Amino acid sequence: MNGIEKVYQFLDEASIYYLATIEGDKPRVRPFGTILLHNGKLYIQTGKIKPVSKQIALNPKVEICAFKNGQWLRVAGELVNDDNREVKVAMLEKMPSLKPLYNPDDGNMQMLYFKNATATFSSFTEPSQTINF
Ligand SMILES: Cc1cc2nc3c(=O)[nH]c(=O)nc-3n(C[C@H](O)[C@H](O)[C@H](O)COP(=O)(O)O)c2cc1C
Repeated sequence: MNGIEKVYQFLDEASIYYLATIEGDKPRVRPFGTILLHNGKLYIQTGKIKPVSKQIALNPKVEICAFKNGQWLRVAGELVNDDNREVKVAMLEKMPSLKPLYNPDDGNMQMLYFKNATATFSSFTEPSQTINF
């Protein structure tokens, strides 16, 4: 398994991660669950009408954090909007529970992928491991 696949697997198994954005000079954080590895890119999903989306549009630097089995993962990087329809379809196929809320042509569904990302796995017992993608 390569680095980005390890990051994807951890986030998928953790089910929930917390996404921090910046609004002006304030941090904002909320729970997220959408995660997709597609064509070698790590995607999350949101709605363009949400404050989180507007914050990312103004400042794409974010960090996410998830915890699972005594290990935690932080991924810091920039999010890039991807309006490719095929990526939206792949997200809805992976997480069908999104289907009542979003469709690829609703003008709201948003896919964002990480660039210039640094992922760090940490625990109290093992040295940290860093992966860049
Ligand atoms: C377990 C869980 C997972 C969630 N996953 C997502 C997600 O992947 N994408 C999303 O846009 N909202 C998700 N939400 C809802 C957001 O946390 C919620 O809309 C939040 O208010 C968005 O942040 P904002 O108000 O700053 O825009 C999730 C909520 C919970 C409780």
